[in-house]
Amino acid sequence: MKKFSVLIAGGGSTFTPGIVLMLLDHLNKFPIRKLKLYDNDEERQATIAGACEIILKERAPEIEFLATTNPEEAFTDVDFVMAHIRVGKYAMRELDEKIPLKHGVVGQETCGPGGIAYGMRSIGGVLELIDYMEKYSPDAWMLNYSNPAAIVAEATRRLRPNSKILNICDMPIGIEMRMAQILGLNDRKEMNVRYFGLNHFGWWTEIRDKDGNDLMPKLKEHVAKHGYNVPNSADNQHVDQSWNETFLKARDVYALDPNTLPNTYLKYYFFPDYVVEHSNPEYTRANEVMEGREKFVFGECRKIIENQSTEGSKLHIDEHAAYIVDLARAIAYNTHERMLLIVENKGSIINLDPTAMVEIPCIVGSNGPEPLSIGEIPQFQKGLMEQQVSVEKLVVEAWVTRSYQKLWQAITLSKTVPSAKVAKEILDDLIEANKDFWPELHKDDVVVS
Ligand code: NAD
Ligand code: G6P
Ligand code: MN
Repeated sequence: MKKFSVLIAGGGSTFTPGIVLMLLDHLNKFPIRKLKLYDNDEERQATIAGACEIILKERAPEIEFLATTNPEEAFTDVDFVMAHIRVGKYAMRELDEKIPLKHGVVGQETCGPGGIAYGMRSIGGVLELIDYMEKYSPDAWMLNYSNPAAIVAEATRRLRPNSKILNICDMPIGIEMRMAQILGLNDRKEMNVRYFGLNHFGWWTEIRDKDGNDLMPKLKEHVAKHGYNVPNSADNQHVDQSWNETFLKARDVYALDPNTLPNTYLKYYFFPDYVVEHSNPEYTRANEVMEGREKFVFGECRKIIENQSTEGSKLHIDEHAAYIVDLARAIAYNTHERMLLIVENKGSIINLDPTAMVEIPCIVGSNGPEPLSIGEIPQFQKGLMEQQVSVEKLVVEAWVTRSYQKLWQAITLSKTVPSAKVAKEILDDLIEANKDFWPELHKDDVVVS
């Protein structure tokens, strides 16, 4: 069996140890000969890498391990790049959330003005990773889950149309794990789903078991009462109280269109007033993550390094991240697994822009994804999606042409923003906060090559 060389880009991520443990747990399905970590923050990565090295020594000493900030070392001799970078790190996430909130607007990592700001930072970072990969390992595939995935996907469609990059999100996975639990199934893979939308902006339209029985009625009954809240969920990533509130709020999101089951992220678009009222402008999700997951993961890694052993370590395998192995296997072994990916519409949704990047089921094989046909979507979703696709396209357009005007339009068009006046105030604050990360924007039209 061929063994693969895997590079984790964003090696210093809080998710790296959980993913490394998950990869080690799946070596029988996806054998690895070399595992490398790459980050542009040497110090941050060193803590995670120091612990991962010890984990590997104990569990799979045959795997060659390297952590580096040197792109050539990192990207040479690689089969898969698993990319999860956060350009600007949590310090900038905190501003993405707090700046809009100061203006009474939703402050969120990937939705609304915060997501737009993050997108303006991520585009350059992800393009850089693609260029390194193509230079040093031209046959490799990038499995990207760096956010905001919708904007990143639109940017790579437009600027690197032939690159081997697959954009994927774990939110549907987490929700489907909860659905399986509601239904009393052992595994979400016992469900066959139909779903359409954009990233963090979609709906399940059909869920059946392997015999073709309709599972939607039972799910709807639960969601109408409890949203996606379930006791002791197997999803060990989305566990904080704020996530429970989001899963519960899916009840109200569902009520708006009881023909479908919604993605949790729609709450930011349908109930922005509620979200703002329930936000603390001084303490947002970024603060929760820095005090929670980041402290925990880095603390555990430091202990492993100090003890030169994982004994007693509380780091846990990120089981829900196994979808990344499913995706790598689909490419490596031509498994034709059915997965939700963010791909160019190209007519899958008949009544939507063919160039929109949509999240839909695809059959994935060694040549990449083959999207399934969705057909026509209802007026409600069509209207919402056209607006949101335009936001995402305008952000990329603004980045490409360095246009202040286009970015102002993008923020104005976001359903989370009440007026062009508020959009401009937020934009001007975001420009100031992001001056080390965004390209310089011009108020007059200029042509940038
Ligand atoms: P984190 O800040 O802990 O980790 C990100 C790492 O990326 C940091 O170590 C940082 O130094 C590094 N980095 C930043 N810019 C870089 C660049 N240009 N080149 C190389 N490395 C760079 O963040 P996290 O909370 O662990 O999340 C990591 C990423 O994964 C985020 O983009 C997050 O949104 C994303 N994520 C996506 C999904 C999904 O569903 N698609 C799920 C979970 C997390
Ligand atoms: C979900 C989404 C990701 C997002 C994450 C944020 O998993 O699919 O795209 O990055 O939530 O989680 P956090 O715990 O960092 O707020
Ligand atoms: Mn996501």
